[in-house]
Amino acid sequence: MTGESMTKVAVIVGSLRRESINRRLAHALASLAQPKGLELVELRLDDLPLYNEDLWQSPPASVQRLKQEIKDADAVLFVTPEYNRSIPAVVKNVVDWASRPMVDSVWPGKRASIVGASPGAIGTAVAQSHLRSILTPLGIALLSRPEVYLSLKPDQLGEQGEVTDERLAKLLDRFLDAFAAWLERVKPA
Ligand code: FNR
Repeated sequence: MTGESMTKVAVIVGSLRRESINRRLAHALASLAQPKGLELVELRLDDLPLYNEDLWQSPPASVQRLKQEIKDADAVLFVTPEYNRSIPAVVKNVVDWASRPMVDSVWPGKRASIVGASPGAIGTAVAQSHLRSILTPLGIALLSRPEVYLSLKPDQLGEQGEVTDERLAKLLDRFLDAFAAWLERVKPA
C-alpha cells in the first residue's frame, strides 16, 4: 500500500512514561495496522502546557502543532491508561486544547476510537466510559464496538510492541479490522 492510499490515524497515548504499556500497545497496533491500510502516528504530548486560556494571546508552538496534526489526520485513536477511575490529565489536556478556540475546534466530524490497557482487572473500562462521555458532545464520531479493555502485565508486550500472545494478537487484529471497515463506511462530516 502506498503512503497516499493509507488512512492516517493520529494516536494519543495517555501516558508520558517511558515504559508505558499503553505506548507499547500503540506500537503493537501500529505494526498490525500497516497492512490494513492504516498509518498510525503517535502525537507528541509531553511539551504541551496545562490548559490556560491566557496562552491564546500567543499560542504555544506545541499547541498549534497538536491542533494541526489532528486536523490533518483522517481519524484519531486514543490509547489510554486509567487513573483513579478516570482518564489521565494528559488526555483531558489534549481534548481541551484541541477544542478551543470554539470556532476552531478540531473535533467536530472527527472519527475516533478508544482502547486502553492497565495491569488491573477492569482494563481501563471506567476511564474509557468517561472518555466517551466527554468526546461525544464535541461532535466526534466514535466507533462503538468492539470495546477493547485490556488487562495487561508489562511483559505481555515487547518494547517495540511485539505481541507474542496469540490471543492478544487476534483481539488487536479484530479491533483493527473493525476500525478500518468503520472508517471506510463512516465518512467525515
Ligand atoms: C493508576 N493505575 C490504575 N489502574 C487502574 O486499572 N485503575 C485505576 O483507577 C488506576 N489508577 C491509577 C492512578 C494513578 C495516578 C496511577 C499513576 C496509576 C495503575 C495504572 O493502570 C498503571 O500504572 C499503568 O501501567 C499505567 O499505564 P502506562 O503508563 O503503563 O501506560
